[in-house]
Amino acid sequence: MCGIFGYTGRTQVLPILLEGLRALEYRGYDSAGIFIPGAGAFKEVGAVHNLINELPDDLTGTSGIGHMRWATHGKPTRKNAHPHRGAHGHVWVVHNGIVENYKALKARLEEEGHTFESETDTEVIAHLIEKEAGDACLTGEALARALSHVRGAYGIAVIDARCPDVLFAARWGSPITVGVGEEGMFVSSDPTALLPHTRSAVYLEDGEYAVLTPREYRIFTFDQQARAPVVSPLDWDPEDLKKEGYETYLLKEIMEGPEVLKNSVRGRLVPEEGRAVLGGIERFADELRALRHLTIVACGTAFYAGLYGKYLIEELTDIHVDVEAASEFRYRRMVHRPHSAVLAITQSGETADTLESVKEAKRKGFLTLGIVNVVGSSITRITDAGIYNHAGPEISVASTKAYLSQLEVLALLALFLARQREMGEAEGEVLAREMLALPEKVAAVLARREEVCALAARWKDARDFLFLARKGNVGVAYEGALKLKEITYVHAEGYAAGELKHGPLAMIDRHFPTIAVVLQDSVYEKNVSTLEEIKAREGPVIAVVTEGDTVVREIADAVVEVPAVSEHLSPMVSVVPLHLFAYYMGRARGLDVDRPRNLAKSVTVE
Ligand code: M6R
Repeated sequence: MCGIFGYTGRTQVLPILLEGLRALEYRGYDSAGIFIPGAGAFKEVGAVHNLINELPDDLTGTSGIGHMRWATHGKPTRKNAHPHRGAHGHVWVVHNGIVENYKALKARLEEEGHTFESETDTEVIAHLIEKEAGDACLTGEALARALSHVRGAYGIAVIDARCPDVLFAARWGSPITVGVGEEGMFVSSDPTALLPHTRSAVYLEDGEYAVLTPREYRIFTFDQQARAPVVSPLDWDPEDLKKEGYETYLLKEIMEGPEVLKNSVRGRLVPEEGRAVLGGIERFADELRALRHLTIVACGTAFYAGLYGKYLIEELTDIHVDVEAASEFRYRRMVHRPHSAVLAITQSGETADTLESVKEAKRKGFLTLGIVNVVGSSITRITDAGIYNHAGPEISVASTKAYLSQLEVLALLALFLARQREMGEAEGEVLAREMLALPEKVAAVLARREEVCALAARWKDARDFLFLARKGNVGVAYEGALKLKEITYVHAEGYAAGELKHGPLAMIDRHFPTIAVVLQDSVYEKNVSTLEEIKAREGPVIAVVTEGDTVVREIADAVVEVPAVSEHLSPMVSVVPLHLFAYYMGRARGLDVDRPRNLAKSVTVE
């Protein structure tokens, strides 16, 4: 999510670092920072050009590290910008990832007398490494010892100012690439940024670190085994590389689904206790325990995620949940009942209607909460408390991975609220373990994407689509229809399947396909009957079914199988074929799927 870049070599480092950071800006641009031994650390909020404006003219040095931040812990301020330093300012670190146990590590270090300057999780890494290095120059052994305390995901670059030519990098869960150049050695979180300097790359694996000097590099495992490096050629187009080999950002973001689900729950589930740990809202635990009414406000895709929130929270707790389109809610009479709260769901945290709804709710005295992807965005600043998605930057205008993470965070919230009420530990454990199994299930659906691609090609000229589902998947039907509209400009409508015979059935004929979510759950038979009604009118049917289903296969014109998943969590799996269908149909129609006409990523005006 963040971008890191480092260099040690025979030429001046500053222009190299700045070029690297510019190449990484697309990964996040909350703040930028560099450290050059002998010259110091420089950090600024916002994009790289803000940093450049603040740099003195006489910066020199031949090694350094730099960072583009996409905030996860702590607001996007200069204080929280990387690089971060150890207690004595010898060791400097840039980091991409999330340290799950940073609070415990920080508390331990504070007891030992360490003081911290930032709200980030990264700073503990710098303190740990410097502590392990002791009075001498940092070594690989000391680095590995320090990292053995860290849980979570990290890609880091490290410099010890006492031995400025030596650059370290390490990886656990977040990518790190070493660039082998003529004039020096590079490290980057993203090989894109290496292209202006070298076409030779060595990819670190989890549990490995690299030691770079101006003329050579060496790779070791954390248990000190030297690893023979495999040099891979970098022969991509820089634009393609940012998309990590995918032809569009949209496909890349859909394919990130399993990773996004992992990141959303990382450090937040305690399966053996059947609980969710949500640090962001913990201080309102008493208010949440007494909560009777929750109003979810959101727009577009986030609104449809909210419908899942209503379904699951009402299934698992005694809380009454309303879901309101923020564009309507802000102008309506808001009734503030005792024990009520307003929850805004928003990827950007900047959507004007959602923002104004929250402001109005605050004026009326509601407890206001947020589920927000962009750290430090306006809505995170005005809500009383919230939960971050940790989905990473979403570049494509159509929201897919953020939707998935919104569903996951809502499931975490439902578990949290349920465990404050009747839900027992054993039931909580079942749900928590099922949540942990979701990434694998989503990956299984993504592995079948060619099947969805073929279906999209087959129906690419259809002019209308109906999307149907029941219960927790109704929001998925709406989302499937919205995505198709946005990406293909084809008319589509989402309906609760039971509503079909109350009107939409009149539209069905052999030219009007239906995409239905018909999983083996408590409404399976009802959904099968709905499909029969459509087939009786010659309507084509594409059904998303549970693996091994033979009944629906007989009725439908085509099926997409998804792994069996509990009814409470199935939307996170069933939505994936719908996102893929919209994507492939947009491509089949020759459209710019990353930037649909007339739309903006963040709707900051009314
Ligand atoms: O940033 P937000 O989540 O608040 O955005 C809300 C909607 O504008 C957004 O979901 C929109 O509907 C997307 N284009 C959907 O793909």
